[in-house]
Amino acid sequence: ILLIAILFVAAYLIGSICTAVWLGKWYYGIDIRKHGSGNSGATNTFRVLGKKPGTIVMLIDIFKGWAATSLANVLLLFDAIPADNLIIFQLLMGMLAVVGHIFPVYERFKGGKGVATLLGMMLAIQPEAALVCIVIFVVVLLLSKYVSLGSMIAALAFPMLLLLHPHFHPDNPILIIFGFILFAIVVITHRKNINRLIAGEESKANITIGRKK
Ligand code: G3P
Repeated sequence: ILLIAILFVAAYLIGSICTAVWLGKWYYGIDIRKHGSGNSGATNTFRVLGKKPGTIVMLIDIFKGWAATSLANVLLLFDAIPADNLIIFQLLMGMLAVVGHIFPVYERFKGGKGVATLLGMMLAIQPEAALVCIVIFVVVLLLSKYVSLGSMIAALAFPMLLLLHPHFHPDNPILIIFGFILFAIVVITHRKNINRLIAGEESKANITIGRKK
């Protein structure tokens, strides 16, 4: 029980690492929360600080989700749980990392929207389905230019793929249930984006396909 409690706290603390806020503050002297969409995530780092820091934040935030989820394997190492239950602990710890990213203890519980960290969690649990979600995200992004729309559709695609595609159908249906819970969390964190999308005011990503004339 003690080991489980320690790992749960560790997963939350890993998720809480405020990559976007700290990178902005330490290297650029900018509080990312006062610029762009005000969100402390990879998208806003791309928007405000550029490609390099945006990529760094994205990769670290993905890694947080992957690391917290994978940390559950320590329980098997110590024979603390039966192997069949691993998936439940991976899901709980991945979700704690996502919650940590959204409500980080280090920054007065004001964090990001959880998308990159959720992707890391999906990569740790079901990498193939996660890769399909990345492709879906990229396609929606290229077609619509809205990162938020791509994020939400990709977050929904994960449980839908597990539910509907025989290849991804998991042994344990709890994975699908968690997938939908996490999608609901992503919708809640994107409520302002949804309002802006409906009002036609959401900012578009500055992506150009092909060479500029
Ligand atoms: O992952 C967050 C993204 O979906 C939206 O971010 O900064 O446009 O609100 P932002």
